[in-house]
Amino acid sequence: MVSMRHRLLSLHAAVLLSLGGIAQAPARAQAPADEAPRAALEEARKASGELVAGVRGELLKAIEASGPLRAIVVCKYSVPEIASSISRRYGARVTRVSLTPRNPALGWGDAWEQRVLMQFDERVARGEKAEGMEHHEVVSEPSGRFLRYMRVLPMQPACMHCHGPAEQISEPIRQQLAHEYPHDRAVGLAVGKVRGAVTYKKPL
Ligand code: HEC
Repeated sequence: MVSMRHRLLSLHAAVLLSLGGIAQAPARAQAPADEAPRAALEEARKASGELVAGVRGELLKAIEASGPLRAIVVCKYSVPEIASSISRRYGARVTRVSLTPRNPALGWGDAWEQRVLMQFDERVARGEKAEGMEHHEVVSEPSGRFLRYMRVLPMQPACMHCHGPAEQISEPIRQQLAHEYPHDRAVGLAVGKVRGAVTYKKPL
């Protein structure tokens, strides 16, 4: 199917070129192999949205019920559970990564993810809004082709309890974080900045 479409698109481009008037074939026709199938991309968006909504829901519930100190366990235990249940359901790897992780065992991205996170930071620095920012790519690896997708997790007011500037974090939370995450790099961020991203990877 794909190669047929590829051929048709190339043919289409060749016809356009031979007719003159169009200096370049459309980018689409040049690189269809790198194009993410729309359904796969929609699935990536849906899975990432579920993770964002699941985390936000659990976090807000816990903060409301027992305060931000108790909500730390949500981030530590419930989030990885939510992420692995979504991963299983979608047959994909879905998790959260950051350039400044709190938990270095889980939160570091691979080389591709780090590059995309840097691009997100640059886009925000240039004035683009972090909310809703995303990136996707089809990548080829020795084990096959994958759809890779990332969506920014922006700093929001509710994140400040635990990721804001140190002087704005309450003493009990600061102590708890220092105790559980001696290598914490996830403080000192302002609202609107990139805290990290949801990342999704699935074989095509
Ligand atoms: C109650 C405290 C608390 C709040 C509020 C909170 N976080 Fe976190 N966050 C944590 C903890 C603790 C971890 C480390 C979890 C672990 O052990 O993997 C973490 C980890 C993360 C990670 C994974 C990468 C890393 O740094 O290890 C991201 C991304 C993240 N938080 C984003 C957010 C965003 C966005 C918000 C606001 C919507 C938020 N957090 C609110 C405590 C919090």
